[in-house]
Amino acid sequence: MTKQLRDIFQGFSKLSREERLQALKDVGVLHDSDVDYLAKGGLRDTSLGEKFIENVIGYFQIPLGVATNFRIDGKDFVIPMAVEETSIVAAASKTAKWIRESGTITTEVVGAEIIGQIQCAKVQDFATFEKQLLAQKNYMIEISNREVAFGLVRRGGGVRDIVVRRVPRGDGSDMAVVHVMMDPCDAMGANIMNQVCEFLKEPIEQFTGEKVTMCILSNLVDSKITRATVHITDIDADLAEKIAEASLFAQQDPYRAATNNKGVLNGIDPILVATGNDWRAVEAGIHAYASRTGQYRSITRWYRDGKGLTGVFEAPLIVGTVGGVTTLHPTAMMCMKMLGTTSANDLSRVIAAVGLVQNLGALKALTTVGIIEGHMKLHTKNLALGAGAEEREIPLVQKKLEEILAIRKRISLSNAIDVLKELRSQASQKL
Ligand code: MEV
Repeated sequence: MTKQLRDIFQGFSKLSREERLQALKDVGVLHDSDVDYLAKGGLRDTSLGEKFIENVIGYFQIPLGVATNFRIDGKDFVIPMAVEETSIVAAASKTAKWIRESGTITTEVVGAEIIGQIQCAKVQDFATFEKQLLAQKNYMIEISNREVAFGLVRRGGGVRDIVVRRVPRGDGSDMAVVHVMMDPCDAMGANIMNQVCEFLKEPIEQFTGEKVTMCILSNLVDSKITRATVHITDIDADLAEKIAEASLFAQQDPYRAATNNKGVLNGIDPILVATGNDWRAVEAGIHAYASRTGQYRSITRWYRDGKGLTGVFEAPLIVGTVGGVTTLHPTAMMCMKMLGTTSANDLSRVIAAVGLVQNLGALKALTTVGIIEGHMKLHTKNLALGAGAEEREIPLVQKKLEEILAIRKRISLSNAIDVLKELRSQASQKL
């Protein structure tokens, strides 16, 4: 019988790197060529880098790990995460295991269109501008699709609508902002959107007699929202209450909301990086959406639900599975293959789910044992390394640091340096 993905989740973190690669190969997530590529240290040839940016001098390497135990919309996933922060991958996997055993993760994408903006900074009369422009709306949609977005149209997407917005200049007068609404299919859509907006500049000036001042897509895509929902069916009532309270804190207080959302992005950004997606665009969109009520709030909500607990993530999460780095960078291509998501919507749904799960893991830790235990415990190895411990000394330094942590509830690099000094002096006295 062929091995299923779920068969390798148990004990995955205890395996050596070689065993992990073998396990991923056994279930068909990785192939021989991927293992070979990873064994050689991934991308080394800088000529590809030269195609992406200017003045290339090399690559910046960050660890690539996989989070396990995810079951999203009834399907198992192994999640590639490129990130440098200790405990993110471990916390995601651990929390996903809890949900796998006692709950569900469901996701959806609501809406299909991204937004492009064309600004006319100073219009003589907004009402006339709007009337003139809307009279030509269907024609502008048609020529945009015919002349620029024809590739998208072939794939079932393209420009769908044109909307005019009045934006106050703050001095009593208005600027006019034209929104181009476009379905980018499986592309992130930035390039094609910017091309459409620039293409429309001339017709808009012609139809209205006004001057277009700039064109660019918007990252606040409130017209296409990704939603993930986690439901834990049976949970200790006290724990559920603590998590709901922590969530209320993040809803009501922007200082807490910023940190809560950083924790959600701990789950989101590593997948964006691993799949070659534009994480700055997603971050900008999420933070802007988090402020849509006029106050910066949490992008997740947790509430008690009978005997259970329900959490919801809801925000724009615009990614692509075609075009750009995603289909050029060999590591990104490998990570996309590992995920098995071919559509942009499916990728976005997985990413939202991981963000919400990461948030649950953080809230559970924060409201029970505290962040130090979960976070710093895993950090002891880094501290030992930072203090200069050699391979054979690391477990000894770690053990001592864990004792200090248990008593003082905090540890630092200077503790690690002291512990190492003490260990070495004891060792030299024994000689
Ligand atoms: C640390 O990287 C993330 C947390 O601060 C998130 C949170 O506070 O919810 C633990």
